[in-house]
Amino acid sequence: MPEPLIKARNVSLEADGKPILKDISLDIFRNEIFGIMGPAGGGKTSFLRLVNHTFRGSNVKIEGRLHVLGEDVLSDEVNPTPLRRKVSMVFATPVVLPMSIFENLVYGLRIQGIRDKSRLREAAERGLKAAILWDEVRDRLDKPAQKLSGGQQQRLCIARAMALSPDVLLLDEPTSGLDPISTFRIEEALKELKKRHTIVLVSNNTKQIARVSDRCAFFLMGELIETGKTSQMFTVPREKKTDDYIAGRFG
Ligand SMILES: Nc1ncnc2c1ncn2[C@@H]1O[C@H](COP(=O)(O)OP(=O)(O)OP(=O)(O)O)[C@@H](O)[C@H]1O
Ligand SMILES: [Mg+2]
Repeated sequence: MPEPLIKARNVSLEADGKPILKDISLDIFRNEIFGIMGPAGGGKTSFLRLVNHTFRGSNVKIEGRLHVLGEDVLSDEVNPTPLRRKVSMVFATPVVLPMSIFENLVYGLRIQGIRDKSRLREAAERGLKAAILWDEVRDRLDKPAQKLSGGQQQRLCIARAMALSPDVLLLDEPTSGLDPISTFRIEEALKELKKRHTIVLVSNNTKQIARVSDRCAFFLMGELIETGKTSQMFTVPREKKTDDYIAGRFG
């Protein structure tokens, strides 16, 4: 087995004295789509936020080890800025900025101080192609991003993340609220993206996890109930709780 890109060992998280994640251990490997499924409040988003170092605060207690690209992101010494360049997160609700499609795409690069026009253009085009949005917007890059449809805005957010060439893409329910065609387009884009990137896909749509992930995990009330190959978990799950959830008996 190769060394995992993300390696969680006995990770526990508490906020305001309330347990959010309990003793999570799992591995995520390069160039796979790793699905995380489970009912609301199970800790899926919190896990992603630990990975990209945005779950912090005086009310927060974290235990265990969480290695991301070889670095323990739970240690006090970790520098979050280079980490966030390598690990991009896209949220359920697309956050497009009130500016043109092009400026949305290169926003992160401009913050990094990149001014070179041809470099910005190249990154914008690469991001749009990766998110399978290029053909739809190539003629109107200077138009306001907020005029795009919801599904296009979500793909723009993925394109913006991809323009930064991250190693890891964290997606938190990227297709909730989208129609089946937009959902299909995003799922197709993810299958392309995993050739060069590692994707962690959170979804409470079990069918989506079954369709696109290579391996997956089932989170229930802060606990990792089961993790393994998606094909195995959806046919012969080891745990009854996994079986019940996949069969739609709760959640
Ligand atoms: N900053 C915080 N402070 C205190 N509690 C929090 C904080 N963030 C999340 N929680 C709590 O942690 C639990 C897990 O939340 P989380 O958002 O990770 O769940 P989720 O699995 O992503 O749910 P959903 O499917 O609804 O998005 C919830 O009970 C939530 O209220
Ligand atoms: Mg969530």
